[in-house]
Amino acid sequence: MIRNGTSAILEAEVTDLSHDGRGVARVDGKVFFLDDALPGERVRFTRGRRRRSFDTGKTETILSQSPDRVVPHCEYFGTCGGCAMQHLNHPAQIAAKQRQLQDNLKRLGRVEPERYLPPLTGPVWAYRRKARLGVRYVPKKGGVLVGFRERHHSFITPLEHCAVLVPSVARLLPALRELLEMISCRDRIPQIEVAQGDNATALVFRHLVPLTESDRDRIRSFGQQHSVQVMLQPGGLDSITPVWPDTPPLLVYALPDHDVEIIFGAVNFVQVNAAVNEKLVQQALDLLAPRPQERVLDLFCGVGNFSLPLGRAAGEVLGIEGDRALVQRACENAAHNRLANVRFVTADLYADELAGAWLQQRRDKILLDPPRSGALEVVKQLPALSPQRLVYVSCNPATLARDAEIVVRQHGYRFTHAGIIDMFPHTAHVESMAVFERA
Ligand SMILES: C[S@@+](CC[C@H](N)C(=O)[O-])C[C@H]1O[C@@H](n2cnc3c(N)ncnc32)[C@H](O)[C@@H]1O
Repeated sequence: MIRNGTSAILEAEVTDLSHDGRGVARVDGKVFFLDDALPGERVRFTRGRRRRSFDTGKTETILSQSPDRVVPHCEYFGTCGGCAMQHLNHPAQIAAKQRQLQDNLKRLGRVEPERYLPPLTGPVWAYRRKARLGVRYVPKKGGVLVGFRERHHSFITPLEHCAVLVPSVARLLPALRELLEMISCRDRIPQIEVAQGDNATALVFRHLVPLTESDRDRIRSFGQQHSVQVMLQPGGLDSITPVWPDTPPLLVYALPDHDVEIIFGAVNFVQVNAAVNEKLVQQALDLLAPRPQERVLDLFCGVGNFSLPLGRAAGEVLGIEGDRALVQRACENAAHNRLANVRFVTADLYADELAGAWLQQRRDKILLDPPRSGALEVVKQLPALSPQRLVYVSCNPATLARDAEIVVRQHGYRFTHAGIIDMFPHTAHVESMAVFERA
């Protein structure tokens, strides 16, 4: 141990990458999660927070460098919490995500697929079509800050540009800051939700106190000048009202391989990376292989991202979703795409005792795409639905592993395939797909 002013400098070999992109090292049996350190590197670091099972640390010197280390593309890397892995080359990012999926399945779920699928990849920059930008008024830092949260803090990193946001949004960052500086209640605007469709880009300004007429005029001219839809959200999601244009068209994205166009609202959930989503939908359909006489269930269906393409191939599709507004949108999407064989129902898929007519019928195939907390309640009910095949799209390998164990060990399904989907390059998010077949 070396002393540097007041803080001790420790030295260690980095052996692994944590689930949030930090280097993992051990000193005297204690585990450290180190910012900016990569597996294979020897580093000097200062200790950060002390926790019961691990401490955190900040890398001060890299004594021997990983061959996979690259110079981060973005000047905000290290401060901004938007990306965690820009210092690792892209193939190594993919390998790390693949390892994380495998480790979770093996260690937490005690299951392994018969075969791993090749990773699904797409554009690695300018891919993010949906985001929530934080806003803070901090006079000490020069006024209004617009950007993503800082790593491990709730402060906002002021961004003038961003390499992962789609250009139609990234280009607005400096102008947004200038606009907000002029707004009377700039200290009462916590966030701006941004969304890009194939037809337009929309911004939703959340504000905690009423805006003045001149605030509204400024926001309106911003929309006009930059050709983006602008909306205000004074309260809950149903309080959103357009400022410009007066009646904006809803956003749409196309899934051309399935002859489907999906309508969505600026605050509705949609998959973040449009190009990877197209591949994701295609792979899910290839693996599920719906046939014209089959009945398919799409659980956690959102606005119908999988249900509508499934409806082109299957006999009947039922989508289930907890958010009533999304179910309404999904129904509009079925009509918009003239898919009379696709229906949607609202249900809470995390209820302790799952109930509803949808549970009383056997299904040939099921697609499952839950939030990070997984689908425990649904997988417990799998025998009632008794599908021949289940395709599980996951955004958290730990809950996928927990659920896979039940599907395989309690319900006796074969675990045929698993693979990662690079939906969020340069971040530590691991999206994956797993396929189970009734034995
Ligand atoms: C990962 S998203 C998937 C959406 C859709 N499959 C897609 O590809 O766009 C998860 C979905 O689960 C829904 N959800 C969250 N909690 C739920 C609950 N308790 N019951 C049913 N659906 C829920 C969310 O509203 C969201 O639409």
